[in-house]
Amino acid sequence: MPVLSPAEIRDFNIRYHDAAAVDYDAKWSIDFGPLARSQTRRKLEKALGGPAPAFSRALELGAGTGYFSLNLLVGGVIARATATDISVGMLAALKANAERLGVDVETVRSDAESLPFADASFDLVSGHAVLHHLPDPARALRECFRVLAPGGTLVFAGEPSVTGDRLARVPKRAGAALAPLWRAAIGAGAATPTDHDHNASELADRRLEALVDIRTFSPNELTRLARAAGFTSVAVRGEELLANWFGWTSRVLESTAAPDDIPWLWRRFACRGYLALQAVDRRLLEPLLPAALFYNLMLCAKRGEY
Ligand SMILES: C[S@@+](CC[C@H](N)C(=O)[O-])C[C@H]1O[C@@H](n2cnc3c(N)ncnc32)[C@H](O)[C@@H]1O
Repeated sequence: MPVLSPAEIRDFNIRYHDAAAVDYDAKWSIDFGPLARSQTRRKLEKALGGPAPAFSRALELGAGTGYFSLNLLVGGVIARATATDISVGMLAALKANAERLGVDVETVRSDAESLPFADASFDLVSGHAVLHHLPDPARALRECFRVLAPGGTLVFAGEPSVTGDRLARVPKRAGAALAPLWRAAIGAGAATPTDHDHNASELADRRLEALVDIRTFSPNELTRLARAAGFTSVAVRGEELLANWFGWTSRVLESTAAPDDIPWLWRRFACRGYLALQAVDRRLLEPLLPAALFYNLMLCAKRGEY
């Protein structure tokens, strides 16, 4: 992994995410239906450690196509949302999703480490799968603290954990090893390079993927970063273990087959299996095992009252 300057990291993120925005929702199965709404609410409540209150002014960093904020808006958890991202492509996709859903959202292009908002502007500041892209997450957390009103809540979810990321290599390797057998079993041909990459520039953009995922976190590190930024009541939880292993295995298997050859029945099995294992993780494993073992970490903290 080359050593990159902060400016290079930001530039790679802009280029990669601008290109990824076009089919980001399809690639990551992002939608805004009832299931996604209940999943985002559940995620928020898991991070909060209890029921979500109604937030009146919410800010999201690295909002992408709107998975977190739009679902929470439509679900009535937040009343007003400001979505920021460093990628204009992502913000355009988010705006289009918001229009389709008939919800109003303010979009502002901004670097998470330098927020163009007045002090104490929001009662919820959130981010989903964004901290691990930032050159200086400590600076971003200080900005979150500044723009949160006293008593406000900080929530980050979907941050890869050091141990969870290492453990996930097992299903990724298993998927690659089992792929020929699996394709034979479902009667699918092997993917050609053009199945997933429509042109040479997209191929180059895929190589950027390795350069934008620049860090993983331990629960202690996230706790320390939040406390150093001034936050109190800091809690870090883990989510997704079995679901993540299953998800990586099926994603790797599917990436090796010609997309049109993958039967609908398999896709339904992959989706239902993932949801069933998510429920097992949630009910059995997450309350029992240490946060560090899970693939994703979630951080919740408060800006204390004056
Ligand atoms: C993995 S995507 C997650 C998108 C969305 N939150 C979701 O969960 O679907 C990471 C997002 O962070 C954005 N991002 C990367 N670096 C950033 C930065 N320095 N400031 C703000 N956003 C950034 C990317 O453009 C991208 O939209």
